[in-house]
Amino acid sequence: MHGAVVNMVDGILAECGGALTCATCHCYIDDNWTEKTGLATAHEKQKLKFVNQPKANSRLSCQITVDESLDGLKVYLPESQVWNR
Ligand code: FES
Repeated sequence: MHGAVVNMVDGILAECGGALTCATCHCYIDDNWTEKTGLATAHEKQKLKFVNQPKANSRLSCQITVDESLDGLKVYLPESQVWNR
């Protein structure tokens, strides 16, 4: 989430700054990367119930810890979060 915000990625608002209260950082993890990003916690899953267009690979990007093992990670955004197309 932080990487998306500082690089002005359209569609990641992150209104709560990573406090796991807003779900405006919703994203989809590419199927080839879900194992490396890990699974959503129970608290994160509760928040994901309220996002638009949830999928099995939905995550809240603020809950993903990024390190070198995620170099090349592919993340997609729900259509409802992309405004400048
Ligand atoms: S930034 Fe608010 S839940 Fe992720």
